[in-house]
Amino acid sequence: MNQCMVQANLFGKNILNKMIKFLDIYNQDKKYHNLILRDLKNFFKKGDFILGSEVEKFEKNFALICNSKYSIGCANGTDALTIALKSLNLKKNSEVIIPAMTYCSTAFSVLNANLKPILVDTDYLSPTININDLKKKITQKTKVIMPVHLYGSVVNINEIKKIIKNSKIFIIDDCAQAHGAKSDIGKKVGSLADISTFSLYPGKNLGAYGDAGIITTNDKNLYKKIRKIRNLGAEKKFIHEEVGMNSRLDTMQALILNYKLKDLLRLNQSRRKIASKYDKHLSNKKIIKIKHSKYSVYHQYVIIVKERQKFINFLKKNKIQYGFHYPYAIHQLDIFKKKFGKEKFKNSEMLAKYGISIPINPLLTNKEVSYIIRKLNSF
Ligand SMILES: Cc1ncc(COP(=O)(O)O)c(C=O)c1O
Repeated sequence: MNQCMVQANLFGKNILNKMIKFLDIYNQDKKYHNLILRDLKNFFKKGDFILGSEVEKFEKNFALICNSKYSIGCANGTDALTIALKSLNLKKNSEVIIPAMTYCSTAFSVLNANLKPILVDTDYLSPTININDLKKKITQKTKVIMPVHLYGSVVNINEIKKIIKNSKIFIIDDCAQAHGAKSDIGKKVGSLADISTFSLYPGKNLGAYGDAGIITTNDKNLYKKIRKIRNLGAEKKFIHEEVGMNSRLDTMQALILNYKLKDLLRLNQSRRKIASKYDKHLSNKKIIKIKHSKYSVYHQYVIIVKERQKFINFLKKNKIQYGFHYPYAIHQLDIFKKKFGKEKFKNSEMLAKYGISIPINPLLTNKEVSYIIRKLNSF
């Protein structure tokens, strides 16, 4: 046996004894655990449980990383979308264009705001909305276009702006999967649209230890309105000027997020590095890669595999965790089947049927990434 073979064998043996994790939040944040616990004790003493300085600090710092003037914390990413839509005061059943492949929340928020969702397919082998199809779906009733930077890949918002020109159509981008990403010309996500919304769900590129969300905007009036809506319509206690929601960002989550925000860009960089290795070295003809924008932050790395069930069994056997994002397009969800019944969105349907997310955990070691590549190429 030569040296190379010995190493390969050892490597194979080591790795096979250990599950390759899809995400590892515990180890990712370990260095902050004691600091967070210390701060929480002080927080319990202080008793400043609602909003307060930790929320303000997080809002300020998050606005900075988005290059946005204002940011408003809220309870989760679904509420962030709903609040953003409500802040526009639109007539009931105004049309909101969304992609057919996204998480259910994008569509639910439209209904929660008493508006009408209109679906548009994604681009071929791409996670983001097809701009030509979008153009065809714009009507007199269209009041909002709500693209989603799915898997961290950034939609060309400038192109959408060119299409809508001076018509009074708002753009709200769903940035739940794109914290820290940039457009192809280097503008930061969170500063591209009229309003941008983020989920801070634990598994996101920036995630809390529970539900949380945040909204950014450069418009002062929208900022003031959104602040009120998330706080039962009140800026001042008991002065309720709007029908609002109770959707404040939890103060303990803000405290945790203030630590975690420090690592966002570094962890994104690690995701991008892993993705570029997959891009370069995955060479199995049975695996089709999908296109991401230039500065994607790879919330997910999704591949298309026609023999998906066989591939899943193969991943299980080789102890590689996986996920689906998402197994149904919006029109395929039971709750929406009636609404969108006969419409077809073939690119989104392909992602739902054959898409499979492989680990893009930023803590993956070079060895683990090589192992995944080697295994996948042998499928
Ligand atoms: C694209 C997208 N939009 C909206 C949401 C909703 O966010 P949350 O789960 O925080 O309500 C998510 C997250 O799950 C998402 O991925």
